Formats: sequence, structure tokens, C-alpha cells
Amino acid sequence: MSQLSLPIGFSEELAAPQRAGAVLARRSQLVPAASLPTNATAKQHPIHRWFNFIAGFSPEFVYQCCQSVSLGPESVLLDPFAGCATAPVVACQLGITAVGFEPHPVFLRIARAKLPSPHWIADLPRIEAALLEGFAHPADPCTLPPAPAAFLGKLFPDSVLRVLLGGRRALDDHRLSDNDLAFLILSCALEQCCHSQTDGIYKALTTHKASALPPDACAELVARVRADLLAVGPAYPGIRARMFPDSSESMHALGDASVSIVVTSPPYLDNFDYAEMTRMYLYFWGIANSWQEITEKVRATLVTNTTTALAGHRHGQEQHRDAVPSVLHPQLDSLVAVLAERRKTKAGKKDYHLLVYPYFAQMTRVLRECSRVMRPGAPIHIMVADSALYGVHVASPQFLARILSEIGFRSTAVAFVRGRGHRWALAKRAGSPTGLAEFHVCALR
Ligand SMILES: C[S@@+](CC[C@H](N)C(=O)[O-])C[C@H]1O[C@@H](n2cnc3c(N)ncnc32)[C@H](O)[C@@H]1O
Repeated sequence: MSQLSLPIGFSEELAAPQRAGAVLARRSQLVPAASLPTNATAKQHPIHRWFNFIAGFSPEFVYQCCQSVSLGPESVLLDPFAGCATAPVVACQLGITAVGFEPHPVFLRIARAKLPSPHWIADLPRIEAALLEGFAHPADPCTLPPAPAAFLGKLFPDSVLRVLLGGRRALDDHRLSDNDLAFLILSCALEQCCHSQTDGIYKALTTHKASALPPDACAELVARVRADLLAVGPAYPGIRARMFPDSSESMHALGDASVSIVVTSPPYLDNFDYAEMTRMYLYFWGIANSWQEITEKVRATLVTNTTTALAGHRHGQEQHRDAVPSVLHPQLDSLVAVLAERRKTKAGKKDYHLLVYPYFAQMTRVLRECSRVMRPGAPIHIMVADSALYGVHVASPQFLARILSEIGFRSTAVAFVRGRGHRWALAKRAGSPTGLAEFHVCALR
């Protein structure tokens, strides 16, 4: 296996951040507004395309936000809900220091793998060699605990799972189990080798799709990573980027007034359960070995945005209410009351009425922390959607804008970006005829 090196004639200057910025500038003029909140363009961008997921926004959205203000080498971009690091990666490409928060253990490692590392280039051949060696020595799924064995057994043919587990064991043997790039590459191979239909990374066990074999998937991924490192890797010396494994409800690692811009997209209310949608990875990597562990180790660290995450929040609703600016209480109280009534008429008995205050309380804490760490005059950009819980409209973007105003932000604005499905317009649902949508909320510190 050859060591990765710059091709003859390759100019480091050409790969400088300005070049990445120029590419982003060109692309961001071409991308329709409706694609900005989605990850649809990620596959066209180096590094972003290594691993991306359905809940991600586009690099172009981040670029456009960064263009709205004067940023330089001393500037710091923060994404308090960093996911797979779209915003931090764009910041690096623009020569801006990046910080992100992400307590989800899978996304955290994916994000870290995509941030500049002095070992990036040297690590790649070692990772590839270890994985290929491991694939040639399959491991027995019998060693898996019962819940992961049952779940993974439905996603992969037995022979493929054995090969993938061989790859995992080889990373341990070669002391690469802490290597984030190795984690990203084998996680990506999982996705490609899985024979169930996926919606981004959510696994619907009963639907089937074409799947690759691990060595082929790995070779293709390594080639993609290598090509991108050759193209943009040298651009990064001197650029600082850091991902914190904590909830952004407390960003004590960041000093007051240290951040120049926030670009982010929080969990949407009643949208993805980020713990459940990553069950394949959590089980494969042994991060959690049962549904209960998924709740305790992952769900509990995230903003409570789905009823599956309510454990621990059923009580203490009063405290959550107290954490939300009181000006929102009349509207949220009546939402809670309507949802409690609707629940009585629904077979599913979903506790949506208990979700409202925990969600907005946690979002208030994150936005307060943003306010603390942002420099006066710094902009915050939030991509977020509204929701319909049991057909009851929850105008989250407007509520978040109001929270921003209440905690001292100014020039708050909410702009429609794109509609997302028309479930909301179905006759059985009362309310807005315009459907649910994604909105760009922005404000100045
Ligand atoms: C909409 S996604 C962000 C996607 C990201 N913009 C991207 O392009 O990859 C929201 C993210 O927030 C993370 N998250 C949830 N609760 C959090 C918390 N309390 N602190 C920080 N991140 C959190 C989730 O794990 C998820 O990755």
C-alpha cells in the first residue's frame, strides 16, 4: 500500500482555504433555497461527503451565513448542535476557528474525524491495511450481546456481519479503536453493506436495498477520503477546530464573548430520535447493548424532542416551565392543555403534552449559553422547523425567536425557507393550510 503523498505539480497554495471558499461561493449561488436546510449537496463537497446524514444542513447554508458578516483568522464559529460537523468543516475551509458541541457518541466521532488532524494523511494507509486484514479474518457474531446480535442479524447477512466484525476486531488489534477516521470509514461501510432500506441512517428493517461487500465498500471510501485529503488536506495547517462531547446546555469550555458567529440546527420537535436512528452503530460498536442502555447513555444526553425521550422528564414539568421565559407561558400552557385533551381521544396515548416544556426549557438554556459566549453584535443563525403534534401546530421557529428576544438578542427575524411535506394540510388536521416548513431564525447578540 503506497503512502499518501501530494501529486506532482500539486500546489499547496491552490488548496488554501480561499480556494475552498471560492468553490463554496460558486456553489452557493447555484443551490436553490429549498436545498439549503438539507444535506442534498453534501455529496458534492470534499470531506462533507465522507459521512453525512438526513438531519444535516447544506455547506452552502453555512457559507451564506458566514458571508453575512466580516470574519477573519481570529474569528470563531460555534455550532452548539454540531451533528456530523457541517458547520465546523465549512468554518475550517474558510480559515475560521471552529467549535462544536455534540454529546451523541456516534456523531461526535464522525465530526471529529472530519476536522483537520495532523495524522489524517499518515493514518489512512494504516486504517485501510488493518481493515482489509480484519475482513479476511471474520469474527463470530455469537460474541455479541443478545439485543445487538438480534438487531444486526436483521440488517446484514450472517457472512457480511462476520466480515464487518472482523474489521472491528482488527482495529482493536492494531490500536486503532480510538482513531476517529477509522471509526468513520468502518461506520460508512456498515451503511453501505446493510441490506435494509435506509432513510439517511434510520434503519427500516423490513425493506431491502442493494448492498456492497465490506472490502469493496472500504476500498471505495478510502479512495474518496484519499482524494479529498489530496485536494484539501494541505489547506488546514494552523486552523483550529474542536468538538466537545457535552450538551450545549452548558458550554463552560468556552469563555464569555469568545464566539463571532453561531450557525446551527437543533433537533426539531417530534422529528428524529437521534438515539434510535443510530441503533445500528451503537450496537455494532458496543456503545450500548440494549434499548435501556441506549436511553441511559445516549438519549438522556440529548435535547428531549420526541416522546421516546421523555423518561426523566415526566416529573419536574414545573421546573421546565420556570426555565422558559414567562412571556411564552400563556401560549405554551394552552398548547399543553390542548395536547393533554387530544391524547385522551388517541389510541397511541402519546405524551406530547409533556414534551413541550422540556424541549423549550432545554432550548432556552442552550440559547442563553450562546448569548454568554457570543461577542456583542455577533449573529446567530438557526435552521429549524415547526411541528404538528396530534395535529396541533407548534410554531417552534417563532417561539425560539421570542426566546432569543427575551434573553437579549436584537434584530430577531424568522424567514420561511422551504415547505416539508403536506401532512399538516391533510383534512383531518386542523390549522395552517400551508403545511409544515423549515425556517431560518436569525438575530444579533
Ligand atoms: C439537526 S442535527 C444537526 C445536524 C448538523 N447541522 C449537520 O449538518 O450535521 C441536531 C444535532 O443535535 C444533537 N444534539 C441533541 N441534543 C444536543 C445537546 N443537548 N447538545 C448538543 N447537541 C445535541 C443531535 O445529536 C444531532 O446531531
